[in-house]
Amino acid sequence: MSRELIKLENINKVYESKDFRGNKYRTVALNNINISINEGETLGLVGESGSGKSTLGKVILGFETATSGNIDYSIDKKSMQIIFQDPYSALNPKMSALELVMEAMFYEKDKKKVKEKTIEFLDRVGIRGDDIHKKPKYFSGGQRQRICIARAVISNPKFIICDEPTSALDVSIQSQILELLSELQKDWNLSYLFISHDLSVVRHISDRVAVMYRGNLVELADAEDLYNNPQHSYTKKLLNSIFEMNPAKARKLLAQEEVDEKIELSENYEWKEVSKRHFVRLDK
Ligand SMILES: Nc1ncnc2c1ncn2[C@@H]1O[C@H](COP(=O)(O)OP(=O)(O)OP(=O)(O)O)[C@@H](O)[C@H]1O
Ligand SMILES: [Mg+2]
Repeated sequence: MSRELIKLENINKVYESKDFRGNKYRTVALNNINISINEGETLGLVGESGSGKSTLGKVILGFETATSGNIDYSIDKKSMQIIFQDPYSALNPKMSALELVMEAMFYEKDKKKVKEKTIEFLDRVGIRGDDIHKKPKYFSGGQRQRICIARAVISNPKFIICDEPTSALDVSIQSQILELLSELQKDWNLSYLFISHDLSVVRHISDRVAVMYRGNLVELADAEDLYNNPQHSYTKKLLNSIFEMNPAKARKLLAQEEVDEKIELSENYEWKEVSKRHFVRLDK
């Protein structure tokens, strides 16, 4: 088995907010999450909007503190990076591609060396020639995401959180970015936590996929296994929504078993081992 880079144990995150009347209320964004990320793997994380995916990423990076629980890191903070959905807001509009990527190496004294390395990394992600002097608004969405990727990888990280990195892009551009991310992963044995609400995107890039529902992990399996043999009602529901474009497959899945429309979680649950690498939560 490959090495565990990050191990989350019983992670809870509760947000306290106020409604328009000023009354306090609590949101359980993460409820008792246990999961590990292994060296060199892509762990896909799927779930509907508000299910806690980004919160999990923020807690891992230390942008948010968990309300309770423990995280074991076998890498340091500098080895972790993040790529966001919207590359435009992630980039300072006044800076050129070259400056933006160089900035990620601000701690490096030898600026000449940094510049050479930046040009090399921009070339690696497909930004070359005079383009390196252009500002964000003169690039396409896909090119801007390439600049963000160069910024993330130039410091030689071991682990990158990709939070919906292709959701704002056209389908054809999406696959180019996914291809680039997989190539970089092979080159440097990177680990990814790949967040998406779209199971069809996550399927191809992930080794394992974790399914989140309302702050809870409900299923974890190898990508193909999850796709072909979903166990949890919520996973089935997610799959059905992507099979709407593929009615034959949807019918096959629905014929296997009636999908429960009402998905109830309870305090009382256990984890069932479907196979050695496939786990599903059973609520009582
Ligand atoms: N800073 C915050 N203060 C209060 N509540 C928050 C805060 N951040 C997130 N939440 C709440 O926590 C829950 C999980 O949010 P999160 O952003 O992790 O969801 P998500 O799965 O990433 O959703 P999306 O797919 O829309 O990005 C939501 O109910 C959200 O409203
Ligand atoms: Mg999010």
